[in-house]
Amino acid sequence: MDSNKRPENMARINTKELADAFISEQVAAIKEQVGDKKVLLALSGGVDSSVVAALLIKAIGKQLVCVHVNHGLMRKGESEQVIEVFKNQMDANLIYIDATDRFLDLLAGVSEPEKKRKIIGGEFIKVFDEEASKLEGISFLAQGTIYPDILESDGVKAHHNVGGLPEDMQFELVEPVKLLFKDEVRVVGSALGLPDSMVYRQPFPGPGLGVRCLGAITRDRLHALREADAILREEFDKNGLAGKVWQYFIAVPDMKSVGVKDGKRYEGWPAIIRAVNTTDAMSATIEEIPYSLLHRITDRITHEVDGINRVLLDLTPKPIGTIEWE
Ligand code: XMP
Repeated sequence: MDSNKRPENMARINTKELADAFISEQVAAIKEQVGDKKVLLALSGGVDSSVVAALLIKAIGKQLVCVHVNHGLMRKGESEQVIEVFKNQMDANLIYIDATDRFLDLLAGVSEPEKKRKIIGGEFIKVFDEEASKLEGISFLAQGTIYPDILESDGVKAHHNVGGLPEDMQFELVEPVKLLFKDEVRVVGSALGLPDSMVYRQPFPGPGLGVRCLGAITRDRLHALREADAILREEFDKNGLAGKVWQYFIAVPDMKSVGVKDGKRYEGWPAIIRAVNTTDAMSATIEEIPYSLLHRITDRITHEVDGINRVLLDLTPKPIGTIEWE
């Protein structure tokens, strides 16, 4: 039987009972596969790698070594949440690497989108590889591959995501959720006790805020973007839009306009709001955000975030606009 093919009679996991049955089955399979050996996992904090981590922790505890690389392009609070959930709450064997300076130094002055992506992806592999080579006795590599990744092995994740590993890494793979669809991964994650904020997270590109801090990334503009994005997320949460809108974020272009603050000329960047709905990310429509909320978000961002002096709303569906600005 092709182990990369979902059996036709496999029930869609959509209840806690089905998730629990899947978890017991996988825990047994992982124990059988791994024995007393060690497994390495790149834990980004995204849904798939988080669920795989939780599953492996349940199966083999500290035989799992998780490495979380903070590339400095995470959203506000994300790396902190990975540490809180996995290290503090689940007592995982977690290695946290703050590689912010390495990434931002390499990205300094680079404005071309594809070049930025390549630098981020390449450096991620380097950092992860360096850490892996410091560890002894690792026999397996766990990955958060899910069924759509197999079906569209040329799809978004395959060519976009950071986290691809060097070909010469000779590990056997552990891929416990590779036959599941995203909605099933989420149900399994909840059954494993992961917080909703992790399990129902919106998609976030591997190169992170790097594709939203447009042009050459500078630390001050990246900081402004991260703070503005956190305000947008907080306001969407408070106003019931978080569960309703598929993806929403801020992009900050590399341009300034004139404004006035405290009676003085104030040059700043614009923060662009993008909030879209889609089922497959191939096309997307624009979510209608109440004007009162837009006013509130504008007021907060322009007053609370240093360097931002205007807030704009992107009304462009996909096509023609892609979801990300790059
Ligand atoms: P676009 O911008 O092409 O994006 O309309 C479609 C969806 O893909 C996400 N995206 C990425 N996801 N790694 C990912 O895992 C990436 O490099 C990447 N780039 C874009 C984007 O956020 C949107 O949901």
